[in-house]
Amino acid sequence: MSASTVAVIVVAAGSGTRLGHEEPKAFVPLGGSSILGVALDAVLGMRETPHVVVVVPADRVDETRTHFEAVAAAASAPLDVVAGGATRQQSVALGLAVLPRVVDTVLVHDAARPLTPSILFDEVVAAVRSRDRGVIPALDVVDTIKRVGEHGRVLETVDRAQLAAVQTPQGFPRSALDAAYAAATIEFTDDAALAASAGLAVDVVPGDTRAFKVTLPADLRRAESLVGERAGAARGSGPDPDPARAAAPPDGPERGGTPRIGTGADVHAFADDPNTPLWLAGLHWPGERGLSGHSDGDAASHAICDALLAAAGLGDVGGVFGTGDPRFEGAHGEVFLAETLRLVRDAGFVVGNVTVQVVGNRPKLAPRRAEAEALLSGILGAPVSVAATTTDALGFTGRGEGIAAIATALVVPA
Ligand code: CTP
Ligand code: MG
Repeated sequence: MSASTVAVIVVAAGSGTRLGHEEPKAFVPLGGSSILGVALDAVLGMRETPHVVVVVPADRVDETRTHFEAVAAAASAPLDVVAGGATRQQSVALGLAVLPRVVDTVLVHDAARPLTPSILFDEVVAAVRSRDRGVIPALDVVDTIKRVGEHGRVLETVDRAQLAAVQTPQGFPRSALDAAYAAATIEFTDDAALAASAGLAVDVVPGDTRAFKVTLPADLRRAESLVGERAGAARGSGPDPDPARAAAPPDGPERGGTPRIGTGADVHAFADDPNTPLWLAGLHWPGERGLSGHSDGDAASHAICDALLAAAGLGDVGGVFGTGDPRFEGAHGEVFLAETLRLVRDAGFVVGNVTVQVVGNRPKLAPRRAEAEALLSGILGAPVSVAATTTDALGFTGRGEGIAAIATALVVPA
């Protein structure tokens, strides 16, 4: 495989203040994945495999790398994950700094525009190459635009024929963008403005309404509904290449017959050895004491398996995955979940949704809830909600002796 000469820097280090979620905007769930996950799907769908640089908040670097390493590798795309800066411009600069020499064309893209189609990236790359200048996607402005002065007084109507609403990905010859970033001394509102200030010519190409930016809660609802439509359309035209979407229920339970629910629970004690790694809800929790068990002791994943098996009438985890089976010794939750999903599907069901609640003092789940939900949802191809509670210092969980998990699953006849 020859090295990629085109790179896409996906900036995802903002906090998403206006969206108002607890987690940074790029990590907010979308379509069984996250805003960043959906954005990366589009990047990895480009005709020419890019070198991908994802810029995230400093405390999300490791988990982002772990989470997306496999999908990038599956697309043969080199992936770098780096910590962002205080402003978008600084985040882009930090991404640019890690590009390998061989890259000659750079696209900068907002993770906050998750539904941007892959073809827009392809078009921007082709235009940068053929014109050797900056290229940005833009839409015509359809509203009449007024310049407004003090006290809301209309000063004039602006000629909208000369206006364009610009989007990302914004593409540039690499050397020109590097030079422009090196020369920048003030903050610009986009990469094209920064590049233009350094003397680079910039052209617009037709944008795409799907490349809208998720800024406010209503934008997220629009994105959710578009992801849903896209999944529906893909199912209607044959097998969906994305197993996550392919497994989603047809159109709600009523289409597939009577839905069935199941409940599952699991408990594991903390291991005697304090150096045992903790695996919970499919994630590794560095610095936390692990759980004992034949497998990795991931009580949340096991409770989900139990709930799914119960819903499908397939028994329980103990019966299906014998503790004597060497395949499951030390196995992580995703091994059990994937196998359970296979059994549930073989029994003629699709997974509707799953919830799991972790009961215990540690680890503190909230900061990584979105990550856990995105991971579990990706494995099961259906929405998984993760919650946590303590027991007010009562019982074995309250004394910190172990962790319990309770799950509920809904399955629908396929
Ligand atoms: N961004 C970034 N680093 C920053 C600020 C923003 O990488 N310091 C990224 C965001 O993650 C987003 C893109 O730039 O993908 C566009 O920014 P915006 O939509 O403004 O996102 P946020 O800054 O996260 O949102 P808000 O302004 O509402 O806080
Ligand atoms: Mg912002």
